[in-house]
Amino acid sequence: MRVLGIETSCDETALALVEATGGLANPKFKVLKNLVASQIQIHRPFGGVVPNLAKREHLKNLPILLKKLTAKSYKLKAIDTITVTVGPGLEPALWAGIEFAKSLAKETGKPLIGTNHLEGHLYSFLLPKKTNPSFKIPISKLFPAVALIVSGGHTLLLHVKNLKTWKKIGETRDDAVGEAFDKVARILGLPYPGGPEIQKLATKGNPNAIPFPQPMRDQKNYDFSFSGLKTSVLYYLRDNPKANKADVAASFQNAAIDVLVAKTIRTAQMYGAKSILLSGGVAANQWLRKKLQTMSHKSKINFLVADPKFNTDNAVMIAAAGYMAYLRKKKYKLEARGDLGI
Ligand code: KG4
Ligand code: ZN
Repeated sequence: MRVLGIETSCDETALALVEATGGLANPKFKVLKNLVASQIQIHRPFGGVVPNLAKREHLKNLPILLKKLTAKSYKLKAIDTITVTVGPGLEPALWAGIEFAKSLAKETGKPLIGTNHLEGHLYSFLLPKKTNPSFKIPISKLFPAVALIVSGGHTLLLHVKNLKTWKKIGETRDDAVGEAFDKVARILGLPYPGGPEIQKLATKGNPNAIPFPQPMRDQKNYDFSFSGLKTSVLYYLRDNPKANKADVAASFQNAAIDVLVAKTIRTAQMYGAKSILLSGGVAANQWLRKKLQTMSHKSKINFLVADPKFNTDNAVMIAAAGYMAYLRKKKYKLEARGDLGI
């Protein structure tokens, strides 16, 4: 099945054409086209995403990307199904994608299904990747698993029984971890989005220079909290205005990631998980990927994560999740749902 994925939940307009085969027992995805138009430069002066600006840009970019996608090898008739993100995300931005998808479906007569953005992240471990030996393990042997989804809006732990069934077991009680990266970057005078900037600056700093707190790390629950850590960075810089910023970035990153890794490993052990599935924009962080992989292997747990380009928002993961929703007979209403859960 050739699936056209459409993603406009935040500040990336993305379109992808993916060939999906194998059904629920052994889903496989071949990326035929992967297009992303980033709005980072437009939102940067505001230090974050402005919903109505995002909508305007999506409306402008969607037809351009579709033209690009169908320009050479693929024509509209090569598509079997269209799928679009209906939530969670910024509602004006989501509507731009939904309305575009609806009129495309009408024009082409192709079926249209709604997709949950978080399911896109969750299923991203199924996407083709360059390096990840665990991927050779048959799907049926990967479960039960624990999934950590870390993005700009979410920090979630899921108990995943199989490709159809999961349960949310923990989440952040305040800021998402990506949000903490973005806010700390702002405090440090770095541009939006802060995650990649902090990672870059942190390579020049000492991760053990400043002992920032690691909230809720040792509490026997599955929840997170990142706003206290962010405030500690703010106070530290207020009290030490001449501090080495690379050390601050490295120490903050170290504290945030240590909590994520420690709690995810403990959760996986508590649930007897055979695998840990990492996804979401923050999963592009090299330090998090490396640490969680090392600790998973030490605990004899498989570790699966997509290539970094499929961790940050993209439409390949949406096309994949659309295929999975179709197989699961999961039907999302074709309406923007800003607070849609998983
Ligand atoms: O999944 P995503 O692209 O969008 C949402 O669904 O929110 O995640 C975006 C978040 C931003 O907060 C961004 O700063 C963070 O992911 N991020 C990173 C890195 N790359 C992106 N955080 C830490 N390290 C990175 N390399
Ligand atoms: Zn996302």
